[in-house]
Amino acid sequence: MGARFLVTTAIPQPGMQLLEAAGGVTVLPEPPDYQTLAGLCASGDFDVVLTQLRDVVDGPLLARAQIRGVSNYAVGYNNIDVEAATAHGILVGNTPGVLTDATADIALLLILGTARRVVEADRLVREGGFHGWEPELMLGSDVSGRVLGLAGFGRIARATARRALGFGMEVVFAPRPPGDRPVSDEELGEFAGKVRQVGWDELVESSDFLSIHVPLNEQTRHLVDADVLARMKPGAILVNTARGPILDEAALVEALRAGVIAGAGLDVFEDEPRLVPGLAELPNTVLLPHIGSATVPVRAEMARLSALNAVAMAEGSLPPHPVNPEAWA
Ligand code: DGY
Repeated sequence: MGARFLVTTAIPQPGMQLLEAAGGVTVLPEPPDYQTLAGLCASGDFDVVLTQLRDVVDGPLLARAQIRGVSNYAVGYNNIDVEAATAHGILVGNTPGVLTDATADIALLLILGTARRVVEADRLVREGGFHGWEPELMLGSDVSGRVLGLAGFGRIARATARRALGFGMEVVFAPRPPGDRPVSDEELGEFAGKVRQVGWDELVESSDFLSIHVPLNEQTRHLVDADVLARMKPGAILVNTARGPILDEAALVEALRAGVIAGAGLDVFEDEPRLVPGLAELPNTVLLPHIGSATVPVRAEMARLSALNAVAMAEGSLPPHPVNPEAWA
């Protein structure tokens, strides 16, 4: 009998073709709720489940699961209890590398879009409020010469730095808190002498734009809370393309209402797809529906990688992009 794949939501080509060529594929008609997914994983009918970020794959589900692997259609895997997966000998795969530039593009878009009030300006034109050029119409902030602070300095932060330097921004970064450590020039590579490492406090207090690039885990949940927002510059803009719960969204709404900071550009939300009350009404925000990786080529590449991961796991091999290779043994 060939491999048996459970796909919670159909993925773009060539992903589905790769899976179909390797075995039988069951695609669910709609995203499963937790109980449905847990039941299917425990049924013994599937070797590998191909999941989306909204699929919660936690310890109790994994404890009952009769599967070899979980292939996540994302680079992030905060929806999966990787420790529990490893404990049960279940491999987890992800899609690193292919969405770095696309996500950095969205970070820059949010920086520029919030600074230059693009959503407000577009609305003004569409609603008939544009009556000709005016000296003080829709004035925003510059980005050139302003300080971009990067929380984290991994792949997407570096791609964001590369773009920001092209816009004449001064770029500072603090490695993933709380694991602050000095980053050597060798590690900085092309960025040595062009970006500056600072401590977390200086990052918060000196950035005109603070962009979040850390993974979500217990250390980074609400990393940016009311206290951090209060220490930011009054004219600062906060950008989040990482994960919603890193930011205390209710505290952000209060800070934006009270003018504690000037604006926010968000591609991710604390309780996606729901927004915290009040956020959607704030004019000084740009809000996007988690589209960091949403280009046709990037989503196709994510589909290819997640399918290759799934096929390898079903065959009992180490997948090309394992999150927990130790589970293979
Ligand atoms: C990821 O891959 O983790 C993004 O958030 C969605 O593409």
